[in-house]
Amino acid sequence: MRTHYCGQLNVSNLGQTVTLCGWAHRRRDHGGVIFIDLRDREGLAQVVCDPDRADMFAIAESVRNEFVLKVTGRVRRRPEGTDNKNIPSGEIEILCHEIEVLNVSVTPPFQLDDENLSENVRLTHRVIDLRRPQMQHNMMLRYKTARAFRRFLDDKGFIDIETPMLTKSTPEGARDYLVPSRVHAGEFFALPQSPQLFKQMLMVAGFDRYYQITKCFRDEDLRADRQPEFTQVDIETSFLTEEQIMVLMEEMIRTVFKEVLNVALPNPFPRMTYAEAMGRFGSDKPDMRVTLEITEVTDAVKDVAFKVFAGVANSDNGRVAALRVPKGGAFSRGEIDEYTKFVGIYGAKGLAYIKVNDITKLNEEGLQSPIVKNLHEAALKTIVERTGAQNGDIIFFGADKAKIVNDALGALRSKIGHEKGYTNGKAWEPLWVVDFPMFEYDDEAKRWNACHHPFTAPKDEHLALLESDPGKCLAKAYDLALNGSEIGGGSVRIHKEEVQSKVFRALNIGAEEAQLKFGFLLDALQYGAPPHGGLAFGLDRIVTMMTGSESIRDVIAFPKTQRAQCLLTQAPSPVDEKQLRELHIRLRQPATVETPKE
Ligand code: AMO
Ligand code: AMP
Repeated sequence: MRTHYCGQLNVSNLGQTVTLCGWAHRRRDHGGVIFIDLRDREGLAQVVCDPDRADMFAIAESVRNEFVLKVTGRVRRRPEGTDNKNIPSGEIEILCHEIEVLNVSVTPPFQLDDENLSENVRLTHRVIDLRRPQMQHNMMLRYKTARAFRRFLDDKGFIDIETPMLTKSTPEGARDYLVPSRVHAGEFFALPQSPQLFKQMLMVAGFDRYYQITKCFRDEDLRADRQPEFTQVDIETSFLTEEQIMVLMEEMIRTVFKEVLNVALPNPFPRMTYAEAMGRFGSDKPDMRVTLEITEVTDAVKDVAFKVFAGVANSDNGRVAALRVPKGGAFSRGEIDEYTKFVGIYGAKGLAYIKVNDITKLNEEGLQSPIVKNLHEAALKTIVERTGAQNGDIIFFGADKAKIVNDALGALRSKIGHEKGYTNGKAWEPLWVVDFPMFEYDDEAKRWNACHHPFTAPKDEHLALLESDPGKCLAKAYDLALNGSEIGGGSVRIHKEEVQSKVFRALNIGAEEAQLKFGFLLDALQYGAPPHGGLAFGLDRIVTMMTGSESIRDVIAFPKTQRAQCLLTQAPSPVDEKQLRELHIRLRQPATVETPKE
């Protein structure tokens, strides 16, 4: 029906007669002349309807927002001074000869250019929301990104193989989405948290290089950068080392950014060990745009009078660390209170601080702080020296279990960094984080858990530590962080049965349990499994950053809310009694009646 897209017209089309199809974005009556901004997926074009053609003009008068129109007219230059520099077709307009209303629209629930829409309204009327130019742009960019990944991987000899959605629980460690079986009463499929085990079996099967852009399902607490179903660019290769996999993958990310955004990411990407990242930034995905750093002071405060510090410094897993903010001495009481409240979100019980007025006086005279009187001079000297503090700075402190201190100061570092401009001015800062530990200790369950997943290979030189000191055993695992977000992660896998058994033992997974859960993979490993490894990138997260979106939901056509619901379709929703019966399911009585407390 059309000859051109609206948004693609420009001065090169001057004088041409074109036919456009699209939606009436806006209609304005200007003393006898009607302007219609016609919109399609490529953008807007201004259509001018003169009253000298009465039949055409009558139709133009009937047009309302979101009517679907077919317009034929001649492209001409806009009159002097009426150019719109913000849109590609801003120098031209279409003088309308013919207009046809292909369909009418009821009044939309909101104006497409309303900037203050609540997310609930947008998600409930997602179809209209998706018409907004920003959402059209986001979806297009998402498509281009996926296409760039595919192209790169196709060119490098990776083949796209689908893996099942109805499957067995996989080892990423979130809660599963379950699907009841009608045929097998009382039995359930799990939706995959990732294709992890299948891609490993594809390596054993000899496919050598696999990829898939696929959905993963995790029933976890949702945050701004998480969705219950999200998309991975999932990759696995045989016969490549940890080093070779990382080199290939960063080449892919560079290629994708170049192709989609015309951004040149650094070559090579910087790398940092997990230990250093936690030590200096309190995070395994530090935002390297932020220039602030965390300093270790645990050893310096073991014998101070301030009980909070000394107690933590002498306890297992305790950490006392400092965050120096240059010129932060100017922070108001109110700002410090706000930061104290902020670190509380991460479990911190307080946020001690020292304002440095005069570093030559390491006492209450030179250092303004509620805690200085309880820190001796040697400790203060170490703190000032190690943080590199200068007059006019503030030093914040976290003292607690290392995890709490890292989470709290790590988050505070990013918050102050971005809010107060302690950044290096770069738009993109990728970072490989390497040498992850194999295991992390779960204090509550009193057991070791896999940091990545139980199929991750330990460093060759750390094999013996699996039994003697699992906490010290490092893994052949790597994560790619970008601007403080984890955009991908993976590892070299265990391909020898005896190593896999040792790892299961360290994780306290018995032979029987292992057989029950992952028997099919363990069997496969016995038939000549090649050395293999891979990783997965979070496509939604990458596109969120590329589009500068606040929320992951802005780059997914039909996302779920923070409460894991689809407001458009109203899923999840109750089902018929008949369906439940077929699935052999009887619902528990909902616990609506509460017994009153004595
Ligand atoms: P991992 O669990 O680290 O690894 O996931 C890989 C990447 O997927 C993204 N991601 C998410 N994105 C949106 N919402 C979520 N709920 C969510 N969870 C994860 C992140 C993350 O870096 N099988 C392994 C990969 C491997 O070892 O090859 C895996 O799934 O960007
Ligand atoms: P208090 O001794 O409770 O009056 O605390 C003195 C200062 O130490 C206050 O500024 C608190 O915010 C801070 N503080 C208390 N507990 C901690 C902690 N675990 N980590 C860091 N600072 C703390």
